[in-house]
Amino acid sequence: MKGGGAYISIGSSTSGINSMGSGSGSGSGSKMTLGKSVKMYLTIFIATTCIYMVLYQYHMSREPFAPSEVGKHQEKSSSSSYIASYLWSPMSLLMANATTTTTTTTVSSTTTTTATVSNAGQVGQGSSSGSIRTVSLAATRPTQASSLASASASAGGAAAHKTAAATTTTTSTTPPATVTTTTTTRANPIAKKGPASTSMSQSQLDAAHKIRPTFVAASEPPPLYIITPTYRRPEQLAELTRLGYTLKHVANLLWLVIEDANKTNPLVAHTLDRIGVPYEYMVAPMPEKYKQTKKAKPRGVSNRNRGLEYLRQHATEGVLYFADDDNTYDISIFEQMRYISKVGMWPVGLVTKTGVSSPIIRNGKLDGYYDGWIGGRKYPVDMAGFAVNIKFLRQRPHAQMPFKPGYEEDGFLRSLAPLDNDEIDLLADECRDILTWHTQTKKNPPAQALNKTRYSNTNLVHIDKLLVRP
Ligand code: UGA
Ligand code: MN
Repeated sequence: MKGGGAYISIGSSTSGINSMGSGSGSGSGSKMTLGKSVKMYLTIFIATTCIYMVLYQYHMSREPFAPSEVGKHQEKSSSSSYIASYLWSPMSLLMANATTTTTTTTVSSTTTTTATVSNAGQVGQGSSSGSIRTVSLAATRPTQASSLASASASAGGAAAHKTAAATTTTTSTTPPATVTTTTTTRANPIAKKGPASTSMSQSQLDAAHKIRPTFVAASEPPPLYIITPTYRRPEQLAELTRLGYTLKHVANLLWLVIEDANKTNPLVAHTLDRIGVPYEYMVAPMPEKYKQTKKAKPRGVSNRNRGLEYLRQHATEGVLYFADDDNTYDISIFEQMRYISKVGMWPVGLVTKTGVSSPIIRNGKLDGYYDGWIGGRKYPVDMAGFAVNIKFLRQRPHAQMPFKPGYEEDGFLRSLAPLDNDEIDLLADECRDILTWHTQTKKNPPAQALNKTRYSNTNLVHIDKLLVRP
């Protein structure tokens, strides 16, 4: 809409200039003096040049450009379209006023845009510092630096997210400074249920973007808190590595890795550091009485409850998800779960004899659950098949996971009561798609001891230190 309006205004101003030129031309005829005709031709020449410049600038502004073309684009705006940029400034300003969720970024046309340091503000909750943010070109694919930065903001609590997003600016040093407006929008994957994120229509926003594509000050989507229980075993580092690199594709995420142990393991910390996903590494041992039992153990429960405790202390908004270290996750489920309003559910593949555990949707409504083992559960779902909004969790201060093998999910979801079935968001294409799988890694025997005499002064001595032995 906005783009259409702008386009029309270009058209009308163009024809305005044309008619002015042709008007004076037709009114003069042969009586015109030499001076007058020179004047007229000059006018036409200048007018034509202006039109070309306007059209050129408009054309350039419609060209989508790859991130690698940033430098080129800047050069263009600083040299060839110096005047055009002035011509366009009022238009840009108009656009700035018209949009509601914009971040106004002042871009110097002669200096390189640099990352700005914005103080994450209320990071008072233990997290150390302000965060460095970069202005990323691709709104939906923030740079590693920005995702790391968002992590420190996450760690400091959601308040930090807000402030950080609001203070992202790029400084301008030399004229002519063009005020440019960029709009970062994200399609709400559960738009059917969620409220529209802005008062402008998508076409308006798209059009606005086309008119003035430039640096995009990436605003953060709602944070994700991923609670991953883990425990010491030969496969541990492999599982964490695989999951970690999946999570690396997800922006604004804090990975809470919680080990069923009395102390942290430097090998785990080293693995997490190497992956580079923002994380907190904590321990929460299973109580002795459960460890000793010959029956089924409540696996990962103390870990997850520790995670909930952390979130109650540090998180104010966003979404929590329990991601076991051995499962398989399509990254699109993370983008969908950000916008859950209370609880969201979706199918999980490779669960029981049914091959999948899923909510049953009939006539667009949640109508029971499909799972090979119902076991009298109100919510017969797998741990990988639901996520919970943090604000909603905070309204349920006693919600936690019971130490009850087989009933961990059910017990936790029940503890979130009151929760109506129609308050449950149905993700993964309203549960028609499978985006998570309950994969199970083959158990490996503990590595045998290395013969240190035989292999002294070899690489094996180093590798041996990387093996997780029970
Ligand atoms: C299934 C579910 O997917 C789990 O979410 C649920 O906790 C479990 O059943 C159960 O009901 O006990 P499953 O694949 O059978 O999971 O169990 P694991 O993958 O072995 O363990 C689940 C999580 O707990 C994993 O992240 C694992 O690293 C962790 N865990 C396991 C511990 O922290 N301590 C343990 O002693 C065992
Ligand atoms: Mn598992």
